Amino acid sequence: MKIGFIGMGNMAQAIVKGWNATRQQEAEEILAYAPNRKKLKENAERLGFMPMDSSLELVQAADWVIMACKPYQVESVLEEVAEALKEKPLISIALGWDYARFLQTLGPGQRMRYIMPSTPAEVGEGVFLLEDMHNLTDEEEEISRLLFAGIGKVLVLPSHLMGIGGTLSGCGPAFADMIIEAFGDAGVKYGLPREAAYALVSQMLLGAAKLQRDTGKHPGVLKDAVCSPGGSTIRGVTALEAHGLRAACQAAVDAVMQYKA
Ligand SMILES: NC(=O)c1ccc[n+]([C@@H]2O[C@H](COP(=O)([O-])OP(=O)(O)OC[C@H]3O[C@@H](n4cnc5c(N)ncnc54)[C@H](OP(=O)(O)O)[C@@H]3O)[C@@H](O)[C@H]2O)c1
Repeated sequence: MKIGFIGMGNMAQAIVKGWNATRQQEAEEILAYAPNRKKLKENAERLGFMPMDSSLELVQAADWVIMACKPYQVESVLEEVAEALKEKPLISIALGWDYARFLQTLGPGQRMRYIMPSTPAEVGEGVFLLEDMHNLTDEEEEISRLLFAGIGKVLVLPSHLMGIGGTLSGCGPAFADMIIEAFGDAGVKYGLPREAAYALVSQMLLGAAKLQRDTGKHPGVLKDAVCSPGGSTIRGVTALEAHGLRAACQAAVDAVMQYKA
């Protein structure tokens, strides 16, 4: 099954790297088009996919198409490929280009599903939010889940929750990276070599996240279990509260939710 990416930037590359690692999708079965030919060719040599000369050529050759360019580029791409796209199932990962917007633009004939991925797919730990509203056939619907199940957690969400879901799972890795960097700096301040500081903090976050996910325990319960009365951790916890950790997290999500792509 040939899968064609329109756009081969950070997100598409993370998906391809994830597939390459799991060997779930053979690299020769992945096609991609992007306007910068030199960059596309270099990426193709590195990742093994087949570079194509135009979006139209790509759509004609692919069995499935993934719209992976920037949201503001989708409209002009569609002008070129809409006719050829009609017979193919389409996945849109372009922010805001959901089922309603696609069908409004292309009409009800286009089979498609809106999916919000995340870059940790590269290491098999992505989150893939699948919009519950779609018009794929039953068989295609199953494929749309299976394609991503090997490189992350697949969750189906109603259309009105795709925005907040995508904010947490898609933008969240950048927020988590800032936390790794900030605690890493704090470790360096007290003498840890930088490399060791990042390795330690990343593993700590990974462990804390896995413990919460796998036990299903409330994060507050897990936090309390680390805080002995009058001990060291509770001092750090109260300092984080005093410096507005929760308010900062809420403000970050509010800022994303107010943005219109
Ligand atoms: N990054 C994330 O974490 C993330 C998460 C969820 C969803 N998304 C969505 O994924 C999409 C891509 O994001 P990204 O971060 O990968 O962006 P990116 O790194 O900027 O990649 C954009 C890609 O689109 C290509 N492109 C530009 N104009 C094009 C055209 N006219 N036709 C075909 N391709 C064209 C670019 O090619 P050139 O480099 O050759 O110009 C590049 O390969 C966005 O719509 C975004 O909303 C991203």
